[in-house]
Parts: sequence; C-alpha cells; structure tokens
Amino acid sequence: DWTPDNVIADQVAAIKAQIGSSRVICALSGGVDSAVAAALVQRAVGDQLTCVHVDHGLMRAGEVEQIENDFVASTGVKLIIRDEKERFLTALAGVSDPETKRKIIGREFIRVFEDAQREIIEEAGEHGEEVKFLVQGTLYPDVVESGGGEGAANIKSHHNVGGLPDDLDFSLVEPLRTLFKDEVRAVGRELGVPEEIVSRQPFPGPGLGIRIVGEITAERLEILRRADAIAREELTKAGLDHEIWQCPVVLLADVRSVGVQGDGRTYGHPIVLRPVSSEDAMTADWTRMPYDVLSTISTRITNEVREVNRVVLDVTSKPPGTIEWE
Ligand code: XMP
Repeated sequence: DWTPDNVIADQVAAIKAQIGSSRVICALSGGVDSAVAAALVQRAVGDQLTCVHVDHGLMRAGEVEQIENDFVASTGVKLIIRDEKERFLTALAGVSDPETKRKIIGREFIRVFEDAQREIIEEAGEHGEEVKFLVQGTLYPDVVESGGGEGAANIKSHHNVGGLPDDLDFSLVEPLRTLFKDEVRAVGRELGVPEEIVSRQPFPGPGLGIRIVGEITAERLEILRRADAIAREELTKAGLDHEIWQCPVVLLADVRSVGVQGDGRTYGHPIVLRPVSSEDAMTADWTRMPYDVLSTISTRITNEVREVNRVVLDVTSKPPGTIEWE
C-alpha cells in the first residue's frame, strides 16, 4: 500500500543501508523536493548530513531568507550558503539560447557545489570521516523528461539530472526518484517539514534564468523579481495558491512594445503570466483564474515596475506548450 509512512520507512532503511557511517551532502534549492529529500536523509542519518545552498542570484524575492530561516529553524539541519551571484551572471553573459543557459547554470552549479564539497570533505577528514554521498531531490517526472525513463525523449535538460559530470566520485542518494510531486508533499508533511515549504509551488532549479526570454542581466533579473513578487502576492491574497499548480512570471526581455503612460509614450517589455493547473507537471492546462485578480496584477505590475508596460496571459495547455517558457 502506498502511504507516506511506508515510503518514509522504506526510504529511511534504504538510506541508512546505503550511507552507513559516511557523511552526506545535499544541495538545498529552497524548493519542496530538495527540502523533503534532505529531511528524509536527516531522518535516516541525522547530522551526518550537511546541506549546501548555492545562491546563483536567479532566485525570487525573499527565497534565500526562507531557506535560511524556515527550513533551518524547523529541521536544525547544518547549512552552508554560497553567494555566487557574480559568477553566474558572468558565465551567462551574452547567452540567450535556453538550452545553453540551462547547461551553463547546471555546470556552474556543479562547480560551486564541488568547491563546497571539498571544504566539507576536508573538514570531515579532520575528524576521520568519509564523505561520498550526494543527495538529489530528483522526482519521477524529472527522470522521465530528461530522457532517463524508458523511451522518453530529451525535452529539456533538467539541471538536477542531466548536468552531472561523468567523473563525479559520489554515489547519488535519490530518495524521491519514484515519486510524483503530490506524493513528495505528503511525505514532507509526515516528516514535519513546515507547511510553508511543503505547500510551495514548484520552481525550476535554473530559477528566473529560464524565465527571461533573452540575455540574463542583473537589471532584467531585478525587473522580473519585482513583477514576480507582485503576482505572487496578489495570487496569495486572492486565495489561489492551492488552486494554481504554479504561475511562472516571464519577462520577454528581447521584446518591446509601444504604450502610453501619463502623457508620454513608453517602449517597454511585456510580462507573461503563466498560471497552470496540473496533477504532476507532465501535462497541464492554463488556469481559468478570476479576471479581477488578473486585472489587479496587471495594473500593479505596470504601475510599479517602470520597465514593463504590458501584461499578457498565456492560454496554452501542455502539450503543446511546456510550463516554463525555456
Ligand atoms: P516544463 O517547463 O518542462 O516544466 O513543462 C515541468 C515542471 O518542471 C519544472 N522545471 C524544472 N525543475 N529543474 C527543476 O528542478 C529544471 O531545470 C526545471 N525545468 C522545469 C517546471 O517549473 C515545472 O514545474
């Protein structure tokens, strides 16, 4: 029988058997998956676990603080935060191709993570401990969509699956590899992961980097971050968080359109709202959300984010559209 308790019992036993007395490292993205994976591993091997959060500067407003405060406070997990914003911006300069962005983000992520690992390993070595395991919050749909499933086509390189170097001398611990998102949430709740984290909507590893259509710059990230914060605030205020699977907010940075504000002509960027309903992200439909909420979001974004003069709604299902734009 599938119950969260059974999954936890099975996984805790499997993790214990796999890891033994070694130390283990987990990349914490701030999302549900890595948080629940970390909580499972912590349940199994306690403080043999160290978590690392790579701050790539592609997070939404307030997210790093949420990891620092909510997750650590509730679990007491050991956490290292790496501020690598400049490094990612530099590596991504001039790049607009979606797959190239994903590969660069994945590659830099692994490099930073390996640096952090090295430090953890050195520190552990002083205490005579081994570190050879890496936790990944890979879900079943990630496995399938990255071409890991039987006969699956490679649709997008999800960076937590495709980007791992071949020479990695770590064994992967992937306790969520057979689970869908709603199952991960159930397991997280059972483990006592706080509701603010468990009920978080999915957010892609490459973050806002794949929600800027065009080159990624610090200014564009800031524009998107402000628009996204407004949309999230209004969706929450309208009580739609549970109805909507996730609502990517996308900046069409390479597109500009003419508008008018006050008595002046504007030439600004469009923001796309992509609210979707889904069971497992494999398929999705656009959410028929109330017009007045859309209207409030549109008015606020165009008033409060000077560079944006148009807000549009994506009414495409998946397939043929993917949830993210890149
Ligand atoms: P798509 O755009 O493929 O997205 O329909 C399906 C789900 O996956 C999320 N997503 C990602 N998650 N790393 C992740 O951890 C990624 O590289 C990635 N790309 C997309 C997306 O937000 C949606 O929930």
